Amino acid sequence: MPAILTLADEILALKRDRKAILLAHHYQEAEVQELADAVGDSLELARKAQQFEGEVIAFCGVWFMAETAKVLNPQRVVVVPDAEAGCSLVDACPVDQLRAWKRVHPDHVVVSYINTSVEVKAESDILCTSRNAVQVVNSIPPDQPILFLPDINLGNYVKQQTGRQNMSIWQGACIVHATFPARRLTQAKMTYPTALVAAHPECPGDVLRLADFIGSTSAIIDWCVTHPAQEFIIMTESGVSHTLSRLAPRKKFHFVANEQCNCSECPYMRKNTLEKLRDCLQHLTPRVELPEELMERARRPVERMLALR
Ligand code: 13P
Ligand code: SF4
Repeated sequence: MPAILTLADEILALKRDRKAILLAHHYQEAEVQELADAVGDSLELARKAQQFEGEVIAFCGVWFMAETAKVLNPQRVVVVPDAEAGCSLVDACPVDQLRAWKRVHPDHVVVSYINTSVEVKAESDILCTSRNAVQVVNSIPPDQPILFLPDINLGNYVKQQTGRQNMSIWQGACIVHATFPARRLTQAKMTYPTALVAAHPECPGDVLRLADFIGSTSAIIDWCVTHPAQEFIIMTESGVSHTLSRLAPRKKFHFVANEQCNCSECPYMRKNTLEKLRDCLQHLTPRVELPEELMERARRPVERMLALR
């Protein structure tokens, strides 16, 4: 009797045939993370894409992350399981509005969060992620004025951490993190009085003020796993629970529901499924395709960021 192939078997076989690497963000479904060659935050995944030497990158994350991988791999095929996997921060900053902002502030350096379209990246001087935003801003001479975009909460956090006054911040927000209410975090702290709080910097300032640790998705995981405490309240997307419970199975992790979906899941990230991953490896679509000239302009700010260690 012929062996019955599971969906996971099919994906692994296609991955081999296609000489593909499977990169997954921490916000993906656990079953997708399980099959990935690398799971990480947006900076780690961009670095993995930069080092890749195969033929196909299957990017299980959102579209802007796959675009970044394509910019770093113009000759390779980059696919995403679902083309609708967008991001509210990308939508918050259309490139024509950025151009208008730059015209009003021609002497400013543009620091863009990686959660932007490739067109916005091409108009930027340097990129940052939640992991290195403070480092990126500190790498710019203190008297050089900055336009920081598009996340207002990350921008305010970086401004506060660097003490920098000459930084103008765009008004965009993440629909998942910006809708975590401080009131619900306060309730969670009363329910779990010994729990420490780890938060992503896309959360509002009043949530961040209640946090014991602020960092990127991977930084939150590292901090919780290595900290001697046994119980944590996690103010980010609940996909991180997969790695947290694998690396610290005896610790307790609590998530707070936001006001957007009364959950803590990113609706864009969760569009990717195992079925769609199989199909995209089979048909090599949805595929990221970008004009050469646009990729060239976007590559400079990406590489400037990746050069910072
Ligand atoms: P990280 O850079 O922490 O992975 O965050 C990406 C993101 O989209 C957060 O919402
Ligand atoms: Fe974008 Fe927020 Fe989803 Fe991250 S969690 S991909 S910032 S919408």
